[in-house]
Amino acid sequence: MVSFLQPPAQIPFTDLRPLLRETEAEWRGALARVFERGRFILGEEFAAFVREFAAETGAAHAAGVGSGTAALELCLRAAGLGGSGREVLTSPLTAPFTGLAILAAGCKPRFADIERDSLLLSWSEVASRATTRTAAIIPVHLYGQPCDMRAFARLARGLRAVLVQDACQAHGARCGERPLTAFSPYVAYSFYPTKNLGCLGDGGAVATDRAAAAAKVRLLRDGARTANHVSREPAVNARLDELQACFLRVFLPRLRARNEQRRRLAALYHEALAGCSGIEPVRQCAGSVYHLFVVRAQRRQRLRKYLEQRGVATAVHYPVPLHLQPAFQDGGLHPDLPEAERACREIVSLPLWPGMADGDVLRAAECVRSFYAGRP
Ligand SMILES: Cc1ncc(COP(=O)(O)O)c(C=O)c1O
Repeated sequence: MVSFLQPPAQIPFTDLRPLLRETEAEWRGALARVFERGRFILGEEFAAFVREFAAETGAAHAAGVGSGTAALELCLRAAGLGGSGREVLTSPLTAPFTGLAILAAGCKPRFADIERDSLLLSWSEVASRATTRTAAIIPVHLYGQPCDMRAFARLARGLRAVLVQDACQAHGARCGERPLTAFSPYVAYSFYPTKNLGCLGDGGAVATDRAAAAAKVRLLRDGARTANHVSREPAVNARLDELQACFLRVFLPRLRARNEQRRRLAALYHEALAGCSGIEPVRQCAGSVYHLFVVRAQRRQRLRKYLEQRGVATAVHYPVPLHLQPAFQDGGLHPDLPEAERACREIVSLPLWPGMADGDVLRAAECVRSFYAGRP
């Protein structure tokens, strides 16, 4: 019997447990095979997964690596920029790992402002900030929305800059129906557990259409070792392990259907929040795979508190733009980036995950509406 004293069910920000339950027999079977074979690094599951992942993303090749951060670092290193101290332009509105990967590669992170409506890195801002020192550009497909890769590819060609895509939040996203690898030889993915395609630890991949780029990433992720354990050049140890490959092989065939669920739930949010004063949804680019559902919100802190008290979890992706974070201060060179700074003050991410009940989306949206309507 439901007691009126019972608090309403919580709506978590994300929930992996239904996927784990649904696929338990499959991943337990795969793990058992690995234990039987006794090979835990660069084994059969790993090799099969990277082939399957490349096919799913429409890439000719993929290289499995230790994380999304390592994938970005390895793209820059494979492009010959490792330890070069050259400048890399990226978005200030992203996970700090995008900037940290640039530092790890021995390059200098620089930032250009974002578009006001989509919150994606603005190619015209990049064009106006780029100089002869700019060696690479990293557009970030933030929240699952593909950037305008045609524009970035044109720009990078004109600047003779390397183009690396941060697709850590955009598994399955395409740009104008074309695979992301059609626009640049380096596309970096993260398999952090909550991503659209996640493992149960850290993992990542680089997708590419160029055999030479894939071979270089494979070499550098494994210490750039030759057969006799001699390292040919500065490199890293960042391999995707066999156990994580087991989970990924089980989850990968479900990626499309799960992205479809994300799109459907996002459409439900849009409908339920339409006309709500105080809220402005972020414009979604065609082909978005809705890693997150993000809105601009007036009185964000109070809204978050109000939702928390009603059992609705929220998050902010991200509260501090990279150019204002201590890790990226470099002689006070960064300009003001007003759109990114404003977005960081206003944005809030609402709960969204494949398998979330429609009723929970409607309840979360109703809580937002009642906050702005001034209802207790
Ligand atoms: C946009 C973006 N870039 C890079 C990363 C880094 O990925 P990882 O956590 O797998 O290193 C993440 C994930 O946190 C991300 O969301």
